Amino acid sequence: MPATDPNAPLRVTIAGFGQAGRCHAGAWKAMDNVEIVGVYSLRPDHEAADIAALCGPDVPVFGDYRQMLDTVDSDFASICTLHDTHADYVIEAASRGLHLLIEKPICLTPEELFAVRKAVKDAGIRAFAGFQEFHYGQLETTIDAVKKGYLGDLHLAQIEYYNGIGVWTPQHWWAKTKAIGGSSMLFCGCHPLMMMMNVMEGRRIAEVTALDTHSSSHHFAALEYKATQVNLLRFEDGAIGQVTSCLDSLHPYYWRNTLVGSQGSLIDTRIHSRNMVAGLDTKGWSDLATRSINDAGDIKYDMFVPMFERILANLRTDAPMPYSDFDRAWEMHRILFACDEAARTGKPVSPDAYLPT
Ligand SMILES: NC(=O)c1ccc[n+]([C@@H]2O[C@H](COP(=O)([O-])OP(=O)(O)OC[C@H]3O[C@@H](n4cnc5c(N)ncnc54)[C@H](O)[C@@H]3O)[C@@H](O)[C@H]2O)c1
Repeated sequence: MPATDPNAPLRVTIAGFGQAGRCHAGAWKAMDNVEIVGVYSLRPDHEAADIAALCGPDVPVFGDYRQMLDTVDSDFASICTLHDTHADYVIEAASRGLHLLIEKPICLTPEELFAVRKAVKDAGIRAFAGFQEFHYGQLETTIDAVKKGYLGDLHLAQIEYYNGIGVWTPQHWWAKTKAIGGSSMLFCGCHPLMMMMNVMEGRRIAEVTALDTHSSSHHFAALEYKATQVNLLRFEDGAIGQVTSCLDSLHPYYWRNTLVGSQGSLIDTRIHSRNMVAGLDTKGWSDLATRSINDAGDIKYDMFVPMFERILANLRTDAPMPYSDFDRAWEMHRILFACDEAARTGKPVSPDAYLPT
């Protein structure tokens, strides 16, 4: 049964109006039959004019999250606040029956992860995670190439994510902290790890190991965690995964995929496949003409539109939600916490250590 009435407007609240909150607002405004009914801002005085311009002059702005939930009737909440509030805000909204889009990461600790999952399941609401990058362009093409079998059975998947969280980054003031940013994996490494979950869909991870390090450049000296972490994943079927989260690189934002399987390989936007179409040169590469992921270091609302369309279709017509559904994100966080423990202890960790009791 659809979660919401397909003919009634979906009433949406947005919590947090920074870079992500603005993208959510722009994407919701682009949807049919959706009304933004309230915005919670950490700095209402500072952001009221922008909220009015983007969401509409009559949309009420709140300086208190719970007050917003108590005051306006809504069906859905977009959680775009800082990481240390996510779990609490999700639980609060779920307990009121709101469906949710939660910006990554869902939470900062395994305990919060279990609590959030319980709240979502107990409330029977639908939840989605903010990984818009899998719903268009290069990454969607890559996942689809794997699903269609063009690479055969993958035995090696390397997903590498490079960013530079220096003082020039607007989020630097909070992203640099362990208390809010969390770790290299929690702040950004969750993106390539979620990509790994998508290309290796259906396979279980037996064990992870990880190493971390940091740049000696003064640009990254304020980061409270080691910004570079390389994680090795051993799958139960013998396949190997490698996820790199490097947040102290000086080069422009760069995302690199290397997938190797029994029928071919895909590296970034080049594919070599033995079963895709007849007549291809067995010594050559074919180029995939698709929007590059490498402009996603600076997010814009149009990048969120395809994911929002799928969220609405899921709520209104029960259409499947690929790539960024809550259960997949929950599983990814379990692996993430195992990776962070492996980096901290230098020992292999089984993700099954992170199962709710
Ligand atoms: N899905 C994605 O690609 C993507 C991209 C960016 C951020 N995010 C996620 O979205 C969430 C919010 O991140 P963001 O980039 O929007 O953060 P942001 O720093 O742009 O804004 C977050 C909040 O902090 C407040 N804020 C900003 N500067 C402030 C200051 N100087 N003093 C006090 N408050 C200030 C803003 O009002 C806003 O409510 C996080 O979970 C983040 O990881 C996701």
